[in-house]
Amino acid sequence: DKGAYPYYMLKEIDEQPAVLRRLLTAYVKPDGHVDMPANLLNALAAADRLYFVAAGTSYHASLAAAPMFEELAHVPVSVHLASEFGYHMPLLSERPMFIFLTQSGETADIRQVLVKVKAQHLPTLTITNVPTSTLAREADYALSLHAGPEIAVASTKAYTAQVATCSLLAKALGEYKGVAAAEQLDLFHELSMIADAQQSQVDEKEVIHTIVKDALATTRNAFYIGRGSDYYVALEAALKLKEISYVQAEGFAAGELKHGTIALIEKDTPVIAIITDPVTAAHTRANASETAARGAKVITLAAKGLAAPGDDLELADVHPLLSPLAAIIPCQLLAYYTSMDRGYDVDRPRNLAKSVTVE
Ligand code: F6R
Repeated sequence: DKGAYPYYMLKEIDEQPAVLRRLLTAYVKPDGHVDMPANLLNALAAADRLYFVAAGTSYHASLAAAPMFEELAHVPVSVHLASEFGYHMPLLSERPMFIFLTQSGETADIRQVLVKVKAQHLPTLTITNVPTSTLAREADYALSLHAGPEIAVASTKAYTAQVATCSLLAKALGEYKGVAAAEQLDLFHELSMIADAQQSQVDEKEVIHTIVKDALATTRNAFYIGRGSDYYVALEAALKLKEISYVQAEGFAAGELKHGTIALIEKDTPVIAIITDPVTAAHTRANASETAARGAKVITLAAKGLAAPGDDLELADVHPLLSPLAAIIPCQLLAYYTSMDRGYDVDRPRNLAKSVTVE
């Protein structure tokens, strides 16, 4: 039931802090250690490379998850589109393990990969919001997202639940392997702070709605730019805008703009810059300025510690590995208000289905 909400999507955006807290209750023991099945950790620790295979929003969540496993568990990760992987399989490492991030657990593109890798007796893990789903049943291991049913076609809370669950798994694996970076990270504390940060972000609805009225009300296209994790957020932000408001939106690694895409910038083209990484903040700002010099309407979403006068919205300062969990929220709201103001059915965008069971 969506209660007083006009659309499920807004309700689901608002639920994200509660989902994150629920995940912490589900996966963190009272002593602060992450509780993951020992046989799963054993299988992951035996792998020399993790292959994430996913589609759409879950692919973007996989991109955000990869650096967590590399940094906290010291295992190389590659991230693949399911629809490509099955038919153009790369040369695999000696001891690969497959992780399927999938909200529905029914995506046909992933299932065909699962069937192929199982035929080679390679270990598989499904992380899904539907524990009874086909992919959960057919993989060797399964983890739940605890996000609760997601009704809106455009995924919001399942995305953040995927990213958060992966951070917990990466931490557990790192501890299991004795990696110092994992042992030293107080993930419970960091994620609790993120739940608060998400709450302050969902409370900024009026600011976001004003940005939409100023910059996105009638535009036909929009660009999201960022670097590192902010780039992965840019990809997901663009997908959200595309799917429910039918605006031609693209996410770019900020440094890539000048290698071609900047030719598309015209007067008032919206360019949304996402800046949470201190290492690259100045570069991304410079890239945004280059678009402004060509007439773009730049909207800057920057972390508090990196904020500059004139920024449009302040993002919370959170652990760099976890920044997508908070930074995506204003982007979800930008898509929501753009769709709503244009009079579309936010929850049921044209041509799309909640789970995609054909290849
Ligand atoms: C977009 C969205 C889709 C799905 C994709 C994969 O909001 O939800 O891009 O992420 O169709 O579906 P799952 O995650 O169920 O495998």
